[in-house]
Amino acid sequence: MRNFTTVSDIGDMRQAVKEALEVKANRFGYKHLGENRTLLMIFFNSSLRTRLSTQKAALNLGMNVIVLDVNQGAWKLETERGVIMDGDKPEHLLEAIPVMGCYCDVIGVRSFARFESKADDYSEKILNQFIKYSGRPVFSMEAATRHPLQSFADLITIEEYKTKQRPKVVLTWAPHPKALPQAVPNSFAEWMRAADYDFVITHPHGYELDDQFTRGVPIIYDQDEALKGADFVYAKNWAAYADPNYGKVLSTDRAWTITTEKMALTNNAYFMHCLPVRRNMIVSDDVIESPQSIVIPEAANREISATVVLKRILESL
Ligand code: CP
Repeated sequence: MRNFTTVSDIGDMRQAVKEALEVKANRFGYKHLGENRTLLMIFFNSSLRTRLSTQKAALNLGMNVIVLDVNQGAWKLETERGVIMDGDKPEHLLEAIPVMGCYCDVIGVRSFARFESKADDYSEKILNQFIKYSGRPVFSMEAATRHPLQSFADLITIEEYKTKQRPKVVLTWAPHPKALPQAVPNSFAEWMRAADYDFVITHPHGYELDDQFTRGVPIIYDQDEALKGADFVYAKNWAAYADPNYGKVLSTDRAWTITTEKMALTNNAYFMHCLPVRRNMIVSDDVIESPQSIVIPEAANREISATVVLKRILESL
């Protein structure tokens, strides 16, 4: 594997899950792979899980790790070509990227959608410049349109907890006070389609995701109807995708919050969320603290998905 930005980079999904479970049982078994190799993790946005789990994965594999928070201590970066740089950004991304590439063997990038330009966000302008100009393998630590390390961990978790071959998995929109990117739901939809689960999406009108991620997936606007018989409930907020409302919050309707009453409609479903989660907006205290909540094992599997991805990249060097 050279780069990891989307589900197609993982190849055969059955094989990827098998490899993940092997790595989980023997997470230090590949320590030789990273000897004298350096991972550079670049964060344009905040993180808890991605930062810690990816660093842990790199340490499992014997790598050295450098972390750069672009907005804390580094020069502010201009990202647009052609700008007269007489403002507050003294360095251009087009010099910074190849310089970063000089100091490492592999680069992880976190760069969220900015909601300034849908075209820029959905062309993955920042991530693709790292791929083009760094001279190094690049993996996404959540980009503008996808969060594949999260989705891979979600897949591993569902495979561990499912009790039937083809479980019903429901992705439900839930309310949040701020505009959040579509990366997690886009990516989750892409991975659930590839896994061929009984997958449905529920959200209020106006929250339709980009069709490239949801094509063929039933969209049910009645959340109660969608939740019936679910084996897994995956809650997430996202801002509107469709024009003219791209990046806007259209609703904070708490009737969409996942509560005990909502979970009672399901087939004793497991509750999942990528975290961080706003309690009593997305999910009630009772549900997230219930035995059916698997948000912590889900987060723990972030170490496993990152270990598999880094292992495969190291094997390709
Ligand atoms: N789920 C996830 O990516 O968490 P962080 O934003 O804390 O990394």
